[in-house]
Amino acid sequence: MCKAFVFDLDGVITDTAELHYQAWQRMADEEGFVFDREINEQLRGVSRQASLNIILAGHKLSETRANELMERKNSYYVALLNTLSPKDILPGMESLLLELNARNIKVALASASKNARPIIHRLGLTALFDAIGDGWSVSRSKPAPDVFLHAAGQVGVNASDCIVVEDAQAGVDAAILAGMRVVGIGPSERVGHATWRFDHTAALDLSNILA
Ligand code: BG6
Ligand code: MG
Repeated sequence: MCKAFVFDLDGVITDTAELHYQAWQRMADEEGFVFDREINEQLRGVSRQASLNIILAGHKLSETRANELMERKNSYYVALLNTLSPKDILPGMESLLLELNARNIKVALASASKNARPIIHRLGLTALFDAIGDGWSVSRSKPAPDVFLHAAGQVGVNASDCIVVEDAQAGVDAAILAGMRVVGIGPSERVGHATWRFDHTAALDLSNILA
């Protein structure tokens, strides 16, 4: 039975990985840290703190300094978010959300991002979501199952009746730990452990999943 869909944000609803990349790159250049697009790939679905730890590659910083770097990166990222608009919704996702609404299937967001609400707002999708779980909702981020369980609780649906849509390995791991079925978006090396897998959002086909 499927009573709710729980969506990841970055890489599923919209592709903000490029904006995260630009913001981290600017901060890293200012600080003289090694950073490139390959390292950025490792940040997919990973929290802000965990992203900084990956960039620092074992280099230790005080908590105050780490917070300052994360806040600076976030200020660059938030400025870049001003360019987002409904044209940045990934192919097929708005019609999928509308179809789920029409079928009375609950729709929730479960994102690691503390910027999830303003992003959904800028995309013009707020009204299509019944609940939003974000980086503020739980303290343990993916691969912990917490944000998915929080989102399911918000819409009052058991984990076994939820289907997650995720593009990150850590996100698929988290959904499985939550006891949910998962649609993976991306290559099998990354999301091959999902219940269903599609190469990209435009290929996501509900008929297979709800059959
Ligand atoms: C995830 C992104 O959705 O959110 C990660 O995939 C990002 O790359 C994380 O680090 C945290 O985002 P924010 O907006 O809270 O810094
Ligand atoms: Mg993602």
